[in-house]
Amino acid sequence: MSDVARAAEALRAGRLVILPTETVYGLAADAGNAEAVAMIYEAKGRPSFNPLIAHVFDVVEARRVAAFDERAERLAEAFWPGPLTLVLPVRTDGGVCDLARAGLDTVAVRVPAHPVARQVLEAFGGPIVAPSANRSGRPSPTTFADALAETGLAAAAALDGGPCEVGLESTVVSLLDRPRLLRPGAVTRDQIEGLIGPLSEAEADARRSPGRLAAHYAPDAPVRINVERPAVDEAFIAFGDTPVATPFNLSPSGDLKEAAARLFTLLRQADATRPACIAVAPVPDEGLGEAINDRLRRAAGAVG
Ligand code: TXA
Ligand code: MG
Repeated sequence: MSDVARAAEALRAGRLVILPTETVYGLAADAGNAEAVAMIYEAKGRPSFNPLIAHVFDVVEARRVAAFDERAERLAEAFWPGPLTLVLPVRTDGGVCDLARAGLDTVAVRVPAHPVARQVLEAFGGPIVAPSANRSGRPSPTTFADALAETGLAAAAALDGGPCEVGLESTVVSLLDRPRLLRPGAVTRDQIEGLIGPLSEAEADARRSPGRLAAHYAPDAPVRINVERPAVDEAFIAFGDTPVATPFNLSPSGDLKEAAARLFTLLRQADATRPACIAVAPVPDEGLGEAINDRLRRAAGAVG
């Protein structure tokens, strides 16, 4: 049996699988199996009011899980397979159990682009929930080794898909009433607004924007952001040209895509030097920079 077939078999048996996606590694379970989903919450130490994303093979399967409108169709057509998650009204017979949705009448759904994730979805033949494979509140794993170190013990199978190309979690857009950006990501605000018009911010209502509650992505060391000159006992993560000598640079050439792909790995590497603090240089807030700065603010405890 191939690794992919074994992984699909483990999912069918109600067990957990570490799965590569183009954004970050996920800890996957059969979306319809509440006991398997409960194991995810337990393995991550995740509050069970924070719902999971249902991953499906294509838009046909997505329409079975969620009620699509014209805006959803347009975004799916433009960005799937890829790093975009849509929050839509759930179809209760769509195979995503209550616990996976934290009891909400809505569901987050995405079609991932990574070939290994796609092979598993095809072999499994139904929706798979997969939160990032980190323990709750820690940076998302973007390499196989980091994923194993975070939640490997809870998984019956683990697939190595190499380092994640995007390196940040998917963009989450809610289409329940007016479109809202719940989580910035690799599909940028401009790209989405170009297709469906202006995006509002996430609501304060926790049932509508559950992910906004949690402080997130934090390494063990405290994090300071927008730092030009680090103190001597700080690990410094630079961006672009820098006069400060440091082994950590998000992108020496100032490329936001490269910076996104390296962000969580560099946070982990800087953390491993056991610094008093991790200081991070300013990153421009345009395009993909919005998502990078969102994760950095959360790592610094400036959100939630
Ligand atoms: O890139 C990704 O999306 C990765 C890979 C593995 O696919 N997965 C991921 O899942 O980041 P997770 O569980 O770490 O993040 C899911 C986010 C959370 O912020 C959660 O609150 C939000 O999506 N979410 C899920 N269901 C929702 C819903 N029904 N309404 C609003 N937000 C929802
Ligand atoms: Mg996560």
